[in-house]
Amino acid sequence: MRILFIGDVVGSPGRDMVKDNLPLLKDKYKPQFVIINGENAASGRGITEKIYREFLEWGANVVTLGNHAWDNRDIFEFIDQAKNLVRPANFPDAPGQGIVYQKYNAEEIAVINLQGRTFMPPLDCPFKKADELIEEARKRTSIIFVDFHAEATSEKQAMGWYLDGRVTAVVGTHTHVQTADSRILPEGTAYLTDVGMTGPYDGILGMDKGPIMGKFLNSLPARFEVPKTDKKVLSGVIVDVDVKSGKAKKVERILINEDHPFLY
Ligand SMILES: [Fe+2]
Ligand SMILES: [Fe+2]
Repeated sequence: MRILFIGDVVGSPGRDMVKDNLPLLKDKYKPQFVIINGENAASGRGITEKIYREFLEWGANVVTLGNHAWDNRDIFEFIDQAKNLVRPANFPDAPGQGIVYQKYNAEEIAVINLQGRTFMPPLDCPFKKADELIEEARKRTSIIFVDFHAEATSEKQAMGWYLDGRVTAVVGTHTHVQTADSRILPEGTAYLTDVGMTGPYDGILGMDKGPIMGKFLNSLPARFEVPKTDKKVLSGVIVDVDVKSGKAKKVERILINEDHPFLY
């Protein structure tokens, strides 16, 4: 089984990038299961029901979230009915779910979303939460995919090693720049510190660079917006899974932008 994961989709440029490229990626790589991180999909802040439904229409099986999950108030209206949507599991008391199960043919895939605590707001322990959810998931399936939404590379690496051999993949999101460290850990877990983002290419983490540079220069409050742009990036990762053991067989990064054109 092949799983395609697409990293943080930022605003309408990110959504356009998914809509335009997902059919091509499906055609080329033939993934059976697609996961999209949508925490920045609505103007960089959260997700709406309409966008969530579009992702499913375009071919996503599961949509994950992160620290921006709650930025768009629409989420509170639909998250409890959204069966293919997963938010960080270690929020102490939040609507929605931190693990989802979806079927592909006879196989069941568990997708877990967790959020880090280093340089981020305090939450329940993501490591203990992972133990709890994996114990639950392994009663149903050995294919377990973890989106660890975290800031610190060290915390992400720690999660990779902590879950090695117990899950299919630990991929990082949140820092929006793809790292080059994809590997399969010794006990069979695919690992990547950060998948990277999908959206504007010439900005800063997907937002308009002007106000952010300004803020670095003058330290005054600034409003960050997603720029309108034709220069876009798509960041993703493909994991090939041995369905019987749930272990990863291969991990391959995907990066599409004008410096790394899509080679079909
Ligand atoms: Fe993000
Ligand atoms: Fe984030």
